[in-house]
Amino acid sequence: MANKAKEYLEVALINKESGNHNKAIDLLKKSLSLADDPIAINNLAICYQSIGNYSKAEEIFIKAINNNQFFLETYLNLALINFSFDQPNKSFEYLMQPFIKNDELNINKNTDIWIKSFPYIIMALNLIALKFKTFNEIHIKLLKFTLSDPDVRTKDLRPALSFYSDAKIKDIDNNIKLTKEDKIKAVTEDSLISSYIENEVNTGLITENFFTTRRTLISGYVANNKIKKDYEVYIEKFLKMIVMQNINNQYIWSISERDKKNIKIVEKRILDIVNKDDEVSYIDLLLLMSYEEILSYKKIYKFLKNQPKNKYPKLKEILKKEILNREEEENISKNIKSFSNIEDNISKKVKSQYEENPYPRWMSVSNIQNNKDLKTGESYTNYFDVILNNLPVKGKPVETKKPRMLVAGCGTGKQPISISLADKNLDIDAFDISLASLSYGIRMARELRINNINWFQADILDLKKIEKKYDMIECVGVLHHMNDPEKGFNELEKKLKPFGLMKIGVYAKHFRDGRLKELKKIVKKENYKTDLPSIRKFREHIKNSNNESYKAISNTSDFHSSSNFRDLLMHAHESSFTIPELEKIFKIGTDYNFLGFEFPKDQYNKIIRSYNKSFPEDIKRNNLKNWDIFEEKNPDLFAVMYQFYLQKNQ
Ligand SMILES: C[S@@+](CC[C@H](N)C(=O)[O-])C[C@H]1O[C@@H](n2cnc3c(N)ncnc32)[C@H](O)[C@@H]1O
Repeated sequence: MANKAKEYLEVALINKESGNHNKAIDLLKKSLSLADDPIAINNLAICYQSIGNYSKAEEIFIKAINNNQFFLETYLNLALINFSFDQPNKSFEYLMQPFIKNDELNINKNTDIWIKSFPYIIMALNLIALKFKTFNEIHIKLLKFTLSDPDVRTKDLRPALSFYSDAKIKDIDNNIKLTKEDKIKAVTEDSLISSYIENEVNTGLITENFFTTRRTLISGYVANNKIKKDYEVYIEKFLKMIVMQNINNQYIWSISERDKKNIKIVEKRILDIVNKDDEVSYIDLLLLMSYEEILSYKKIYKFLKNQPKNKYPKLKEILKKEILNREEEENISKNIKSFSNIEDNISKKVKSQYEENPYPRWMSVSNIQNNKDLKTGESYTNYFDVILNNLPVKGKPVETKKPRMLVAGCGTGKQPISISLADKNLDIDAFDISLASLSYGIRMARELRINNINWFQADILDLKKIEKKYDMIECVGVLHHMNDPEKGFNELEKKLKPFGLMKIGVYAKHFRDGRLKELKKIVKKENYKTDLPSIRKFREHIKNSNNESYKAISNTSDFHSSSNFRDLLMHAHESSFTIPELEKIFKIGTDYNFLGFEFPKDQYNKIIRSYNKSFPEDIKRNNLKNWDIFEEKNPDLFAVMYQFYLQKNQ
């Protein structure tokens, strides 16, 4: 009897591995009817999870735990299921079960279960912050613990840190026992807030308000030489935090008339010293830079550029970012290969925008959520495995030894660099029309020691000048900025090998026309320009409005940095599409097979469950008629944009 059970189990596992989950379920049930076995029980639940029957899977997993027939991974599976149920707090509890002893954290980072659970713990923290807007002691301890991991970037925890910073600053600001200076001191002493502000774009309006109003206060102290001695170090630290934040958000915070008066006084004082070629006060320099980039004070910029290397040691980090990086990018830009003259009128306009405001201005790429199968938590070592194992790809579309990838409109390089970090074996070509964007990407690639990306300047319309063909082409956020997106796609298609893969990202009309249309009308009506003072003014206009739809925009990360804000609301040229239009432009059903949409990682499980519920018969989730209906009911579904995979038919 037991042997027969084992036989069923073995065949079931083979079926499970090859994706025949229903068959595997049948066999596992047979096996379990003969003998109880934790492996069979857990695999049965995993198979239900894979076919989207999450409730059944959850029931079996919980029973397994109650009967002591479980593995540590069972908790991870239960967490993934609860992400689908939009219950990140429950996911968090399950994920933390193996790591809490007597109400304290008990984590061994080298265990397999920690390595597997870690990305999802971060995801849960972010989702709890967004959904419940409350953190307990364990959440905060864990936030500190995860941030101390060298693989974790503040970026990975942005929603959690943004919420934490706003909540903590609100507490500090409401504390009537603290003086104005004590409040500034308390904020600078919070390690999570300082790490967040210095390394990431802040997205919290309470935090922004605290920093900008206290900056005004401090500018008065500095202008009049009235800083209290005991607080000097905290005020310096506070200003430095603002300068770093300014570099991250490209100086998007607005400046009041009072600020301007104080800046003038300090600027004049510095210029007097610069003219005497003497030593400038650190706090004066910090104050200026806490408002505008140093380049905008031309004479002071020149002065600092020519100072001996270690003249201002406390400014080292800032000057590297503000002066040295800029110089390096200018040098890089002179040596970028070009395949185009960029003659198309729209391409010229769009190029000009991205030369002024390269997009995105990124600081780091996530290292921890790359190449994860979001349904099961499994990791992959090959960039294509996630696609090949999860999407209905036909045959073997990818050269296995050294696959060739083209990233069209690579912007500032975040996209090709993330791909390269996920898979060193790829041969990547990345191009864009904007030299400033490419230079940023090349500098970042050098910093990250990445050398499998070949960068060049070209217009998609000129791709015919390149001979190579590619296994995969990615073009995200680009075609909708072209005069004729269909023509752009046709040029890309000529560079794709037979049966090759494409990843495309284009704007969704439902979202863009719904949420953004009114705001764009304001730009026209008020005649807002695209320079920084106008961007700041328009942004204040939105911040001060009571319109709920505008408020929703101020929650997006693009609202909080200049180049992203311009990209979101003041673009030189853009169009957007509906799903039926996608079918036509991308020749879906004729020359291409639609393989599926991609969603932001933290929303993936929830969206897929909801779609499965509405369309249980569409197991591959690639029926665009269904997605069109689904989007109608969820108009913000493609708020980021439509991102999807295609496979060439021949
Ligand atoms: C929104 S950014 C997206 C960057 C990148 N794909 C990403 O997702 O991070 C759009 C980029 O497309 C580039 N672009 C626009 N039209 C182009 C064209 N005709 N040929 C090549 N690049 C183009 C722009 O210069 C800009 O860097």
